[in-house]
Amino acid sequence: GKITYIEHDNTEHEVELVVGSTLMDTAVNNAVPGIDGDCGGACACGTCHLIVSDEWLGRLGEPGSDELQLLDMTPERCKTSRLGCQVEVTEAMDGLIVRLPEFQM
Ligand code: FES
Repeated sequence: GKITYIEHDNTEHEVELVVGSTLMDTAVNNAVPGIDGDCGGACACGTCHLIVSDEWLGRLGEPGSDELQLLDMTPERCKTSRLGCQVEVTEAMDGLIVRLPEFQM
């Protein structure tokens, strides 16, 4: 399966889907620019912000309260924003496209 990350300048990065990884780890392991993951996935930094399309949002599970609190402080938050480290990749995410914000906080 494949996941596509699109940078703010519309540069696309199509990478291999790894079940059990997270959307943050998948991006960082493939050196996708525009996502940092400074806290290593502890839901503490907010630098793994990504924006999901409307049609995919419901398929990624619900954000937890820690994630929502961090998203509240995220400058470019959209209504479909998620923290990449809090989304575990499943086989069902084949074809997922996520967009990255211009800046991570
Ligand atoms: Fe720090 Fe996701 S990597 S909150």
